Amino acid sequence: MNELIKPRQRRLNLLGTLVHLMHNGRMKPQTDSESSNAANPQTVIDALGRPLHDLRVSVLDQCNFRCPYCMPVAKYHSDYEFLKKQQRLTYDEIMRVATAASELGVSKIRLTGGEPLLDKNIGELIQRLGLLPGISDLALTTNGMLLAPIAAKLASAGLHRVTVSLDSLDETVFRTMSGGRGELGKVLDGIKAAEDAGLGPVKINVVVQKGVNDHTVLDLLQHFRGTQTIVRLIEFMDVGNRNGWRMDQVVPSRELLTRVQARWPLEAVGQNYPGEVARRYRYEDGGGEIGFISSVTEPFCGNCSRARLSADGMLYTCLFANQGTDLRASLRSGADDGEIRDILSSIWLQRADRYSELRRPGLAEHHVLRKVEMYRIGG
Ligand code: GTP
Ligand code: 5AD
Ligand code: SF4
Ligand code: SF4
Repeated sequence: MNELIKPRQRRLNLLGTLVHLMHNGRMKPQTDSESSNAANPQTVIDALGRPLHDLRVSVLDQCNFRCPYCMPVAKYHSDYEFLKKQQRLTYDEIMRVATAASELGVSKIRLTGGEPLLDKNIGELIQRLGLLPGISDLALTTNGMLLAPIAAKLASAGLHRVTVSLDSLDETVFRTMSGGRGELGKVLDGIKAAEDAGLGPVKINVVVQKGVNDHTVLDLLQHFRGTQTIVRLIEFMDVGNRNGWRMDQVVPSRELLTRVQARWPLEAVGQNYPGEVARRYRYEDGGGEIGFISSVTEPFCGNCSRARLSADGMLYTCLFANQGTDLRASLRSGADDGEIRDILSSIWLQRADRYSELRRPGLAEHHVLRKVEMYRIGG
């Protein structure tokens, strides 16, 4: 694991690479007089030509659910040791990273967890992030359980929209897929409250697992048809090493699309923005929009512009990363804002991740790589 490399040593390596990359013309070298800021961001392009646009911030690693595909209860039991408060980045530290990211071209920030709404002060962080120049999209992913009572407060703090994870409207299936912790009524109230608070369009993330919830997908779609809520069907992915992923549990999006089309004809819709993970469709009868996220069968690494910051300050450049960079160590050992920005840009400049494109069903070594767990970087 590269996490074991001392941060200072890694920084020196990265700065060396930075100089090399500047010579190769993938980043405009700066002088003091033209240093970047969020109003005048610099663009950093990775080794495969992809710009940095999107920062996903995991505020804590804990969750009130135990979805078997993410935090199986057998592994995340009552004795499991989550990060302690002093191990997690403070809001000031998150702001320093987010500011640096915005100066490098990030215009979209998503707050995730674990479950970000377990952080009772999240409104304060939202408010501070919302004031960053250059951030045009500030979103949050939640399981929805704690959303209803605070949706309006989140909106007035400056949150633009929420995405709610909801795998089924069948009570039994939903209970199973939340590890016995979820209450369907509360999640549905949360979605309604978010719509009412103007946190739309609300998106619903559905992880589809063969034989577990795939038979309930059409009912879920039916429920949200005719509303502004956009359901996205996600292929079960081999993130982390603890969810027992097997290819035969994946329902390929192509197959789901056929099943949906047989009930409601669909037409394809273009991307909202380059690098969007979902392929969009609308019901021909005007019933609204749905999406398919097909990381396993139709990878979308080619446009991937996302960096991920874990609650303990590791920066990952891929959802399937087996190594990251310890920004907390730099933040807590006196690095100034310019240095944090340089570290970030040098990491991005040398990035060549494309895990999903390299993964082939049957290529066992990709499954046994030690990868970061999803609840630590929030999907
Ligand atoms: P919008 O901004 O609303 O388009 O959504 P988003 O792109 O931020 O998507 P969201 O965070 O809701 O992601 C939905 C799901 O897609 C995640 O939970 C993951 O399962 C999957 N996903 C998101 N980003 C990536 C990625 O970079 N790689 C892979 N393989 N999957 C991703
Ligand atoms: N495969 C696909 N999506 C996943 N998520 C969590 N684990 C997986 C997985 N193994 C998604 C959840 C949630 C987001 C945080 O990540 O649906 O929306
Ligand atoms: Fe929690 Fe989301 Fe993981 Fe489920 S998928 S255990 S709700 S972080
Ligand atoms: Fe991006 Fe990695 Fe996902 Fe590919 S697998 S889209 S590089 S996060």
